[in-house]
Amino acid sequence: MQYSEKVMDHFMNPRNVGEIEDASGVGTVGNAKCGDIMKVYLKIEDNIVKDAKFKTFGCGAAVATSSMATELIKGKTIQEAMEITNKAVMEALDGLPPIKVHCSCLAEEALHAALWDYAQKNGIVIEGLEEPVNDISEHEEIPEEE
Ligand code: FES
Repeated sequence: MQYSEKVMDHFMNPRNVGEIEDASGVGTVGNAKCGDIMKVYLKIEDNIVKDAKFKTFGCGAAVATSSMATELIKGKTIQEAMEITNKAVMEALDGLPPIKVHCSCLAEEALHAALWDYAQKNGIVIEGLEEPVNDISEHEEIPEEE
């Protein structure tokens, strides 16, 4: 399995690890199939994501994608934040091996769960945002190891 230099860099030196105490939104999602869990904290002011942090009990690709996803979301408006898909995160990391693509979904879903939490707390609707699931493996197929 070959990881890009960017994936290795974000795995070895993950950005934004930790938590935000007075977070505007917090999202936790897991994947029951691999057992990995991701928690994302967002600080949102005036419709802008001012800060993002994450904690994970997850594989290397989950660490790298969350690191990149939290980097990408900082400074974005909420609508721009909605455009940070797992595909966008993977592109920013110069790709992931196919068997690790689902790990990037964990990062995307955790961002969405945190945005959902923010929307709920503030009584707003974020266009295009669906209610998060706790276990993303219910919604996807993970390729089996050969
Ligand atoms: Fe589960 Fe990577 S193996 S997130």
